[in-house]
Amino acid sequence: MSKTTFSSKIGLIMAAAGSAVGLGNIWKFPYIVGENGGGAFLVVYLVCVLLFGMPLIMTEFLIGKRSGKSAYGAFRALSGNNRWQWLSWLCMLTALLIMGFYFVVTGWCFNYLAEALVNAFHGMDMNGLTAHFTQMTSNLPRTIFFSALPVVMTAAVLWFDVNKGIERLSKILMPLLLLMMFLMAGRVLMLDGSNIGMQFFFRFDFSQITPKVVMEAMGQCFFSLSIGMGALITYGAYMPKTQDVPRTSVEVIILDTLVALLAGVIIFPAVFAFGFNPAEGPQLVFVVLPAIFEQMSFAWLSAVLFFTLLCIAALTSTISLMEVSVAFLAEATAKLKHPMDRQKSVLIVSAVVMVLIISCVCVDSLFDAFDEITSCIMMPLGALGMSLFVGWFLPQDGEKGMLSKEKAIKRWARKIFVFFLRWIVPAAIIVIFLNSLGVL
Ligand code: PFF
Repeated sequence: MSKTTFSSKIGLIMAAAGSAVGLGNIWKFPYIVGENGGGAFLVVYLVCVLLFGMPLIMTEFLIGKRSGKSAYGAFRALSGNNRWQWLSWLCMLTALLIMGFYFVVTGWCFNYLAEALVNAFHGMDMNGLTAHFTQMTSNLPRTIFFSALPVVMTAAVLWFDVNKGIERLSKILMPLLLLMMFLMAGRVLMLDGSNIGMQFFFRFDFSQITPKVVMEAMGQCFFSLSIGMGALITYGAYMPKTQDVPRTSVEVIILDTLVALLAGVIIFPAVFAFGFNPAEGPQLVFVVLPAIFEQMSFAWLSAVLFFTLLCIAALTSTISLMEVSVAFLAEATAKLKHPMDRQKSVLIVSAVVMVLIISCVCVDSLFDAFDEITSCIMMPLGALGMSLFVGWFLPQDGEKGMLSKEKAIKRWARKIFVFFLRWIVPAAIIVIFLNSLGVL
């Protein structure tokens, strides 16, 4: 990201929300809720957001704000030694693996936008739409082409270092996306049988909660909020000095959760009204969304507008993902004989990402593995490392303290924040890990 800070506080909130709100909310959240029994997953997810979201978003923002550095330099700058450098490696690797599958799904969105433009879904029933999705994903050259498109766009944004552009894009995107989603929810709720979907999404059945559900909910929480891999450290580094960290964090969480909930309220009633299976997996929204647009007035316009917004939402996330790896490469090589400038780093990261994308497109199990490992293992590990780093190894108060310049954080709030970082967050992550391994 460029050397300038964000031009306004709201600009920073929107850019950080732009990183958080993306395919995780609209594509992944509904299908993962569908696979994990509906309401039970939702409740565990919301508990995870409350438990981890606030302390960890604040932690990443503060690490960035206090050090003025990206994930590569921040840990060394704050600790004064190299012992925490593994965390920046973890962040960079996590970003790379996420990009491997995230760009593929972004490519599906671009593909659907292209098809919506020529009204390709018109008149298709659910079987037709399902067959269409399978056909699209089995056309490897086409899938690779459409995945490369957002890579080039993301690389271009980072190459020209246009963070003002991201800010502007997100400022327009968020309200439009919310408006569009409210309209879609309104239409879907009028369908016959939509109430069964609402029950599926909101009815809490305690017996459905298994260690796997808890693990996946935690992973989804990290993924959706972009925490545990240093993306938000970068935003912290460019925060205006007077930015209110807790408030910004709350706003990002509210926006992100609102979009996920809206996605559920759109998808599940439609799934049941159309007689579809909620546990269909990654294809769920790609089959259901075109069927919803068919029911809306201005069907063509709605589809084109929604897929455009979805592509932009995905891009504001891929920009923050790629930034982590690009900044890492540029800064890690800065003192070498042949340092890599930003542009060279963008090229190399893009090339590596293309290799990962092609691997994910050709080998289905790699796509699933990257998705699962990053959300359920690497991001929680990164978050565990960061909470221990800030909670136990850095001073909180005093001249050098993490919180010393944060006037917006009151005394009582500091105590709660530190208590969460020291005890609650690490303990919860470890318990969920052990639980899913069957140790507890
Ligand atoms: N939070 C994004 C989403 O929900 O789509 C995904 C993501 C973006 C994860 C950036 C991590 C990240 F650093």
